[in-house]
Amino acid sequence: MGGTGAEGRGLAARLAAAEVPVVVGSRTMERAREAAEKIQASAGVAVEAATNEEIIQRCDRIFLAVPLEGAVDLILGHGDRFRPGTVLIDLTVPLAFTGGVPTIKELPEGSAAEHLKARLSPAVGLAAALKTVPAHVLGHPELPLDCDEFVCGDSAESRAAAMELLGKIPALRLLDVGGLEAARTLERMTLLAIVLNKRYKVRTARFRVAGL
Ligand SMILES: NC(=O)c1ccc[n+]([C@@H]2O[C@H](COP(=O)([O-])OP(=O)(O)OC[C@H]3O[C@@H](n4cnc5c(N)ncnc54)[C@H](OP(=O)(O)O)[C@@H]3O)[C@@H](O)[C@H]2O)c1
Repeated sequence: MGGTGAEGRGLAARLAAAEVPVVVGSRTMERAREAAEKIQASAGVAVEAATNEEIIQRCDRIFLAVPLEGAVDLILGHGDRFRPGTVLIDLTVPLAFTGGVPTIKELPEGSAAEHLKARLSPAVGLAAALKTVPAHVLGHPELPLDCDEFVCGDSAESRAAAMELLGKIPALRLLDVGGLEAARTLERMTLLAIVLNKRYKVRTARFRVAGL
């Protein structure tokens, strides 16, 4: 869901190019189709289009590449329609811009991932990933990602599900960072990447851990 945005479109193209079957989701079928056509053109592989409602009913691995408020609405609005055993993979970062300065919105649960988990049926798993990979990089499939990405989740099974899918993307090393509370750090790392982008006038800052 959110396959029409820069982050979701880039991710969908990377997955499709890695031969993962992809369904691009949007609130409208028209936008889903437009995005699917663009992804198809960039990945060179066919992808399906669907509304978010259809995705919730059909798919058991779903990326939340929408703004946090939209992810909350989708979870609250469709809570009992997710297939049992579904794993949602949360990309959201709760950013706010105050006078052009980016900050993290303080959430009572500590992170966007935990905020979503608190609203989700226990029958649905939640992992968080790709929070620190910029759309500008994801969206250029011809460029190697050449970075590390951190995966946390509400269970070992949720993390494994996210890592199995994302592990198909070349040049992306996945690091398991444990429970969802790790998202508090990851979401702030995204803020740091944005600060670096601004200061060094690039759009590609991302992370690589030494010593592992
Ligand atoms: N951009 C980045 O570099 C980056 C990096 C890391 C993480 N992220 C996170 O990834 C997510 C997507 O980022 P983005 O930059 O692609 O975001 P975006 O362009 O603002 O939104 C992506 C898509 O979300 C859908 N959407 C918007 N508002 C919605 C709502 N209220 N309810 C349901 N769907 C809604 C829209 O699709 P439809 O109108 O077609 O439904 C939109 O095309 C965000 O949570 C962001 O924090 C982004």
